[in-house]
Amino acid sequence: MNNNYPLLILFLMLLWAAAVNAARAAEEDSAGNVSVEATLLPGTYTEKGADTCIKCHDEDDDYPVFDIFRTKHAQQGDKHSPFAGLQCEACHGPGIAGPEAIAEVIEKGGHTGRVRPGKERPPIIAFGPESTVPIEKQNRMCTSCHRSNDHIAWKGSAHQGADIACVSCHKLHVARDPVLARKSQPEVCYSCHLKQRADFSKPSVHPVRFGRLGCSDCHVAHGSMADHLLIKPTLNQTCYTCHAEKRGPVVWEHAPVSENCALCHTAHGSIHRPLLTKRAPLLCQQCHSQDSHPSVAITGQGLASGTPSSLLLGRSCVNCHVQVHGSNHPSGVKLMR
Ligand code: HEC
Ligand code: HEC
Ligand code: HEC
Ligand code: HEC
Ligand code: HEC
Ligand code: HEC
Ligand code: HEC
Ligand code: HEC
Ligand code: HEC
Ligand code: HEC
Repeated sequence: MNNNYPLLILFLMLLWAAAVNAARAAEEDSAGNVSVEATLLPGTYTEKGADTCIKCHDEDDDYPVFDIFRTKHAQQGDKHSPFAGLQCEACHGPGIAGPEAIAEVIEKGGHTGRVRPGKERPPIIAFGPESTVPIEKQNRMCTSCHRSNDHIAWKGSAHQGADIACVSCHKLHVARDPVLARKSQPEVCYSCHLKQRADFSKPSVHPVRFGRLGCSDCHVAHGSMADHLLIKPTLNQTCYTCHAEKRGPVVWEHAPVSENCALCHTAHGSIHRPLLTKRAPLLCQQCHSQDSHPSVAITGQGLASGTPSSLLLGRSCVNCHVQVHGSNHPSGVKLMR
């Protein structure tokens, strides 16, 4: 009876190897290299979970890992949380190498096992842009639990389409993930969106720099049905969430206002107050050039003589047409009151 054991194991190993070879064939590239993906999964989970990992990975490690115990992921009372289940391996994958590494498993037990001097420790799933694990695979570790992020909005969103990893925005081994707080969020986004950092440093801005607004007050980073990942189906509706008074209705409408605020305003920042794309009169003259007092401001009438025209001074056209967003005054047809 004792004699049958090694035979049985050998037989199982052969079966295993056959199955693995089939799977591996699919993941080999033309040069015959097996992808990292194939060497990582599937595999076997450690018996003791985190206790095994923290024997080697502690606070003195190059990368201190313990802060994760202060996050929602460590709530063992929540049966959906990683630490109620596979613990570290829920995200990092099996600590014991996949079956294709069977010889190694027997020899050294995969990533968590003992490694002979001079040999490399078998890998485990690491995250971030430097990881050799494909982004799509990294994200799948997260979406296996965060299913809602695997649905329509994320799929096909600008970020998913650009192959951005969940962990390009999220940090998990910190007590407070910076992207979730208004104050620290913009820095996370600026790491890729450099132009927006410049925009939010201009003289007239939405007060993002001071933590009063976050990018996610206007954008859904995970994807939305609107252009530019806006929180509402249209740009104007997005603006109305805070500037409700601009929604109207008004007695005398100014056509471009209900059409698109961005005809006159930038959303992030501008050198022209308040958040204007251009300064009046140029702003207005993009659309109004042949009106009752046509092009006065750009004929130079008020300039050459040295007597500045009221059309150019101060707020220019808005000196008189103060109700640029529309008027509720019975005689506000020219947007002057
Ligand atoms: C016996 C010690 C030991 C144990 C146990 C161990 N690790 Fe590691 N781990 C290491 C060492 C050493 C490195 C650095 C490897 C390298 O530089 O090649 C490492 C690297 C890593 C990395 C970086 C990824 C990579 O491939 O470079 C992650 C993530 C990681 N370990 C997670 C875990 C998890 C999760 C567990 C528990 C399932 C675990 N480790 C158990 C020693 C260990
Ligand atoms: C909820 C998912 C998750 C869990 C659970 C988790 N990690 Fe991590 N781990 C990550 C992510 C994501 C990173 C990349 C850095 C970051 O986002 O903070 C990381 C980074 C690491 C690193 C640094 C790897 C590198 O690339 O240098 C180590 C080591 C590590 N984790 C070990 C552990 C250990 C040990 C545990 C269990 C105590 C654990 N992790 C639990 C998601 C997780
Ligand atoms: C085993 C399941 C599981 C895995 C795997 C997992 N999470 Fe979670 N995650 C949870 C649970 C449960 C919560 C708590 C939800 C709650 O309380 O609303 C959570 C919360 C979060 C939060 C919100 C944290 C907060 O403070 O509000 C973020 C962000 C997050 N996870 C990102 C990730 C990312 C990124 C990954 C992949 C690296 C990942 N998760 C992997 C289960 C998981
Ligand atoms: C471009 C940056 C970015 C990427 C990429 C990203 N997130 Fe987020 N995530 C955020 C922001 C910002 C919030 C906060 C949203 C808010 O406050 O309304 C958030 C919130 C969350 C939350 C907590 C609230 C919720 O929606 O349940 C979870 C969980 C989460 N993200 C998981 C993920 C997962 C999983 C992925 C990858 C599929 C991912 N995130 C990719 C930026 C990002
Ligand atoms: C007050 C609302 C609001 C806030 C806050 C906001 N955005 Fe925007 N963002 C918009 C609108 C509206 C557009 C579309 C602009 C257009 O069509 O002219 C946009 C466009 C974008 C674009 C597309 C390119 C561009 O600049 O037009 C990116 C990228 C972007 N925002 C990133 C960010 C980041 C990063 C933050 C935080 C630092 C942020 N946004 C904060 C409203 C906002
Ligand atoms: C790892 C890099 C990276 C990070 C971090 C990142 N983004 Fe992006 N984002 C991109 C890429 C790449 C695209 C798609 C190409 C583009 O349109 O610029 C994109 C697209 C967008 C768009 C759509 C632009 C458009 O014109 O439709 C918005 C809005 C946006 N990001 C906002 C954010 C916000 C808000 C954050 C922070 C919560 C953030 N991004 C973090 C890389 C990143
Ligand atoms: C999440 C809330 C929010 C949204 C959405 C929002 N704003 Fe604002 N807006 C603010 C806040 C807060 C201020 C600053 C008011 C203050 O300083 O008292 C502001 C100020 C402004 C100003 C005046 C700036 C100045 O220098 O005085 C303009 C113009 C403006 N917003 C236009 C827009 C437009 C256009 C949109 C849509 C693209 C928009 N806002 C969306 C919150 C918002
Ligand atoms: C035709 C150009 C134009 C359009 C379109 C426009 N605005 Fe304005 N907006 C201005 C001008 C000009 C000012 C400065 C008025 C002043 O100096 O008194 C201004 C000022 C503002 C201010 C700050 C002062 C105030 O009135 O509260 C806010 C907020 C604002 N606009 C929001 C919006 C929103 C929201 C939309 C879209 C629904 C919009 N604007 C569409 C031209 C426009
Ligand atoms: C994007 C184009 C656009 C911009 C920019 C614009 N307008 Fe207009 N404006 C219109 C349209 C369209 C009408 C409606 C014209 C009509 O009914 O004949 C209008 C109507 C008006 C009227 C009322 C005209 C009437 O006959 O009752 C005034 C006054 C006016 N605009 C002033 C301004 C001022 C001042 C600015 C700059 C702050 C400005 N507009 C910027 C497109 C624009
Ligand atoms: C000194 C005050 C004043 C200034 C400054 C001014 N307007 Fe007017 N605007 C008026 C008056 C008064 C009317 C009404 C004229 C009428 O009914 O014949 C008017 C009418 C208009 C009309 C309606 C035209 C029409 O045929 O009824 C438009 C459009 C207009 N202005 C645009 C502008 C623009 C653009 C500027 C800046 C270049 C500007 N206004 C600057 C006083 C002013």
